[in-house]
Amino acid sequence: MSKDLKSMEQEHANRNSKTFAEHLEQNGISRRGFLKFCSSMTAALALPAGSADVMAKALAAARRPTVIWLSFQECTGCTESITRSYSPTIENLIFDFISLDYHHTLQVAAGQQAEEAKEHAMKESYGKYLLIVDGSIPTKDGGIYSTIAGRTNLDLLEEAAAGAAAVVAVGTCAAYGGLPMAKPDPTGAVPVSALVKDKPIMNIPGCPPIGLVMTGAIAHFLTFGRLPDMDELGRPKAFYGDSIHDRCYRRTFYDQGLFAKAFDDEGARKGWCLYELGCKGPTTHNACATLKWNDGVSFPIESGHPCLGCSEPNFWDAGSFYEALSVPQGRTGETILKAGAIGVGVGAAAAALNRSNKSAAVEGRETITVEDLKRES
Ligand code: SF4
Ligand code: F3S
Repeated sequence: MSKDLKSMEQEHANRNSKTFAEHLEQNGISRRGFLKFCSSMTAALALPAGSADVMAKALAAARRPTVIWLSFQECTGCTESITRSYSPTIENLIFDFISLDYHHTLQVAAGQQAEEAKEHAMKESYGKYLLIVDGSIPTKDGGIYSTIAGRTNLDLLEEAAAGAAAVVAVGTCAAYGGLPMAKPDPTGAVPVSALVKDKPIMNIPGCPPIGLVMTGAIAHFLTFGRLPDMDELGRPKAFYGDSIHDRCYRRTFYDQGLFAKAFDDEGARKGWCLYELGCKGPTTHNACATLKWNDGVSFPIESGHPCLGCSEPNFWDAGSFYEALSVPQGRTGETILKAGAIGVGVGAAAAALNRSNKSAAVEGRETITVEDLKRES
């Protein structure tokens, strides 16, 4: 074992011996700020009253858990989103607290030393560590299209998943295949859930996902020792339970039938609904309209651009981004007719369809257009 690796392991042991409370104190976070974070996090996770105290106690006493983060076919946007620090917040510190065992982009070590550090961390915490994956996994031709240290992503995932307590698939590529799986899918890309069958898996989709959603899910894992409640697509319900459309501040214009028809017309200037410019908000489940991005500054629709549906399966293949709504195809008539019968709009009918066909949507590649929806309803 090299001297450098020994000192890294010593540093690892020192860090692991600290509680999160000690870590916060060292970084100048007050008890009051920490309690405020726990209150807002339990509210965001829709946990029952009293959970903030439970979270505060559990997080304060938590010792640094081992996290192995593997990056496969991805663009590093997920890491950028999650680590992009706008201020030294507690959310950032949680990431600092947990994230340094092995992460291709963030770790200091490189080459053989990095691989040895990973092996050591996995061995020491076998059965207990959290495995985070971003990127899809190529399966065609034995998985040769993406390798790290001479080993395929397939091989690395299998090895790391075997000793994990739970797996978190970060970003739409890891959760649903994402861009690498878009037609014609040259590498035979698949999501994590297609390969890991014997561990709890949580999907945090988005291209990229919101950093705070990641932090919330990790805070839940540290507090309760398990992943939060999830929907049929494995997403934490607290953050993906509502559609963008459900919470959009432009919804009042949608309900009045006031739509921008071009990016520079009067409707666009007045902030009208972007549905006719291709907004996929009615079929997209994510927390962008409430949590927003960049410390709550804005989100795509607030910046004048339609939602692309980046947190839904197959969004790259679900029709043009700038044509009025198209949704992943699955069973069609029944849900739309039901939604139509209670007098909701085409967008809401499409959202209902999308919710009812979540599992099918993961596999489906064909799309139907808003015109099809109008005809069927
Ligand atoms: Fe907002 Fe898009 Fe829904 Fe319009 S269609 S209200 S812009 S989410
Ligand atoms: Fe993605 Fe739509 Fe949010 S494009 S970032 S889910 S507003």
